[in-house]
Amino acid sequence: MAVYLILYYSKTGNSKFIAEKLSAGLICNSKRITPIIDSVAVLFLLSLMKIGIPTNISKKEIEVYSEVVIVGPVWGGLLISPLRNTLKKCIRASKNIHFAVTCETKDEEKNNKYGYAKVLREAKGLGDKFVRTTEAFSTSLVNPENKVWSPKLSEKIKITERNFNSELKSRLRDFAIKIKSFEKQ
Ligand SMILES: Cc1cc2nc3c(=O)[nH]c(=O)nc-3n(C[C@H](O)[C@H](O)[C@H](O)COP(=O)(O)O)c2cc1C
Repeated sequence: MAVYLILYYSKTGNSKFIAEKLSAGLICNSKRITPIIDSVAVLFLLSLMKIGIPTNISKKEIEVYSEVVIVGPVWGGLLISPLRNTLKKCIRASKNIHFAVTCETKDEEKNNKYGYAKVLREAKGLGDKFVRTTEAFSTSLVNPENKVWSPKLSEKIKITERNFNSELKSRLRDFAIKIKSFEKQ
């Protein structure tokens, strides 16, 4: 039976929320990824430059687990720096990886400049055979239609117990099933 570890990076709580729900579903530990510098501006720049920032996660601790789930946000349509570093560590440890992002672009916009499709493709490209499943959880699934887009962190849409609706629940359930079914292959 696979032993999972969930690693997440989260600035405004959405990836943490998804990671914790998944950890309840997969009955496994989750751990926050903490980069050595946790400033949006610095991380954004490093993400643009495709540089993975060192974090608190060591290859040694990953090695204990058989599969790793990585969760974090999309920023500027990019694979963000702490996730890049974590992905590389898991690949070096030859782990099966399940990679998910949270974002605000809708599924219909996933191929746009700021959509999640490119990020999932890049993660898959980095990990080749190690990245087994990918998924995206958009805040548009819980976003009231009238909410206006804002660049401010404090005004970003939050996924909470109150708005955790059936659509998001079923996407999360399907992702957990996909992860578990991989184990049987
Ligand atoms: C600096 C910044 C840039 C963002 N850029 C994008 C983007 O390009 N595409 C997108 O879909 N969402 C974007 N978002 C929205 C986040 O991906 C979304 O709110 C995510 O759920 C945040 O995750 P977190 O709460 O775990 O930090 C951005 C958010 C921030 C703060």
